[in-house]
Amino acid sequence: MADKYCEESSRAVPKVLPTVRRAMCDAPPNIALVKYWGVRDARLVLPYNSSVSVTLERLRSRTAVTFDPELGNDSVELNGASAAGEPRAAVVRFLDRVRDRASIRSCATVTSENNFPTATGLASSASGFAALAGAATAAAGLSLSPRELSRLARLGSGSAARSVFGGFVEWRAGQRPDGADCYARSLYPADHWPALKDVVVLVRGAPVKEIRSAEAMQATVRTSSEYPRRIRELPRRTRGIIRAIGGRDPARLFPLVMEECDDFRNVCETTRPTLDYLTSTSRAILAEVRGLNREAGRPVAGYTHDAGAHVHVFTLARHAARVRRRLAGLPGVERTMVLRAGPGLKITT
Ligand code: DP6
Repeated sequence: MADKYCEESSRAVPKVLPTVRRAMCDAPPNIALVKYWGVRDARLVLPYNSSVSVTLERLRSRTAVTFDPELGNDSVELNGASAAGEPRAAVVRFLDRVRDRASIRSCATVTSENNFPTATGLASSASGFAALAGAATAAAGLSLSPRELSRLARLGSGSAARSVFGGFVEWRAGQRPDGADCYARSLYPADHWPALKDVVVLVRGAPVKEIRSAEAMQATVRTSSEYPRRIRELPRRTRGIIRAIGGRDPARLFPLVMEECDDFRNVCETTRPTLDYLTSTSRAILAEVRGLNREAGRPVAGYTHDAGAHVHVFTLARHAARVRRRLAGLPGVERTMVLRAGPGLKITT
């Protein structure tokens, strides 16, 4: 398919920028404590439920966008390789939105690289589209508020709406059909709970996602008999998780985070055809965390995972070394990292 603005016979009328304009943006991934899974409007990416996440420190997508009047086509490079097919098309569609908004028609060069593994459940689409939103709007001369950036990033990848903000973040589902009230906001800043750690456990041989979450979640909405119950239960669980974060209360937070993760996995597994993101190592990690809590006689850790095989285990600083040692020792674990909540996206021009 020819690019909307970059084909020779383009009918588009907006202006070509007079000069080369470049901007760069760093954006972090986030891990959901309450999962986004299912949209009421696929075109506008309006979810059925509000979700909650922690923005992760140190990991980032770095994206540079250059609008150049001399270019005849958009060029997209992801992690050092020229992008083609759907990954490129998704970036071009996103650039088109930005061009529409800025009333420009220059083509662009986009380069993006992650400092962590792509498409293996570490939320590269969240950081990637948040970084693209930041870089493309700045390069196009738009100056958007964080809320507007969140709404825009949402259209590239739902979870990207949350990566605009640092710390503890809620993406409100909203109610309006046009999505005007559907954006993320900061619940608590990154330094709200310094003792809370995320032990990220990377699993060897984690399969690369075959279908985008955006498609997989709609299969769940259509076919999982558990989905309506999930949607009914979520407001209570979400309120509990937000309150536990606010009160820095691990004894309330960890069980609720695991309950939510188990429920997310349940609706995936009852989807037809079934969605199974875990490996035997991921399952062993979940069992080990349950074992740690049993041994301690109280919740000292809570696991969660997204649509991928890696597992995030929340714990307190004083337990982090022990939790990490136990999980790093399991067969099939490739690497562990201990992360905190971190800042949101940063635009540099
Ligand atoms: C399980 O926002 O990554 O991670 O549109 O395919 O990029 P795409 O969907 P995406 O879906 C995220 C699903 C999840 C839960 C979450 O992050 O809330």
